[in-house]
Amino acid sequence: QNTPAPGPKRVLLAAPRGYCAGVDRAVVAVEKALERYGAPVYVRKQIVHNIHVVSMLEKSGAIFVDEVDEVPEGAHVVFSAHGVAPSVVQAAADRGLLAIDATCPLVTKVHREAVRFARDDYEILLIGHAGHEEVEGTAGEAPDHVTLVNGPADVERIQVRDPERVVWLSQTTLSVDETMETVRLLRERFPHLADPPSDDICYATQNRQVAIKKVAQQADLVIVVGSANSSNSVRLVEVAKEAGAKAAHRVDYADEIRQEWLDGVSSVGVTSGASVPEVLVQQVLDALAGAGYDDVEIVQTAEEDLRFSLPKELRRDENGRQ
Ligand code: F3S
Repeated sequence: QNTPAPGPKRVLLAAPRGYCAGVDRAVVAVEKALERYGAPVYVRKQIVHNIHVVSMLEKSGAIFVDEVDEVPEGAHVVFSAHGVAPSVVQAAADRGLLAIDATCPLVTKVHREAVRFARDDYEILLIGHAGHEEVEGTAGEAPDHVTLVNGPADVERIQVRDPERVVWLSQTTLSVDETMETVRLLRERFPHLADPPSDDICYATQNRQVAIKKVAQQADLVIVVGSANSSNSVRLVEVAKEAGAKAAHRVDYADEIRQEWLDGVSSVGVTSGASVPEVLVQQVLDALAGAGYDDVEIVQTAEEDLRFSLPKELRRDENGRQ
């Protein structure tokens, strides 16, 4: 039996939420590749960090592998939205694989920045999470010029060759506020630190954080739909807590919502990470409606209409050329 809520029960639904343009493109790329070439189509790493998306694509005939040497020679392989290092592209070519590059164009933009700054002999302080696929891909563009900075607490240990020639870049899916704090601390140590030409944290990450901040200010509990390895989903939980939500939890599926989370709760904020299909959010809303939270108010802080065209390998085949 739950402790009754003090006020009327309602849901505050963040907008924008869910799929970004890069995720949509990557998922459609795998679907199109399956349609065109037939199963199996191999995908290096999870195409996007969501267990539901990955298992649906597996059912349609996608095979997810960790490295290209697991892919049979001559087969099609899709590179995930998070991007790959040039060494991976080369390994796939050496194996005679037909690669389809579903790297998000906004990740590719950061790769290009890394290449350019390395060419100009800058030392690149790459703010991001060690071990994340995106960071491995970006760092792989200029391994001798990149030092990873794992957030504000990491700044103190950073050593550079020439403090006059340093620039920061970042992973696309970080907390905006925490990254600005990391940059502030880096600049304290290296006053000549150069900025990237434009934001590396992408529009989708930023928009979802702005929306959940507004929701969190009015919500007793925030539920973020997203997978544990999804950087931007995990950041949404942190951002919600920092913005004032009394509690914030991440779930992959609606059945993970625990009864006790709703104890004494009037307002539940709901959002989803950039790799999360809307059907999973709908299931969460249905579960909440079942618990009496059937009044849903949308909290919209931005409109999004960005779309990316398919990876060039699929566009090329579409035009009848191989
Ligand atoms: Fe791209 Fe940002 Fe989505 S980098 S894949 S648009 S979260």
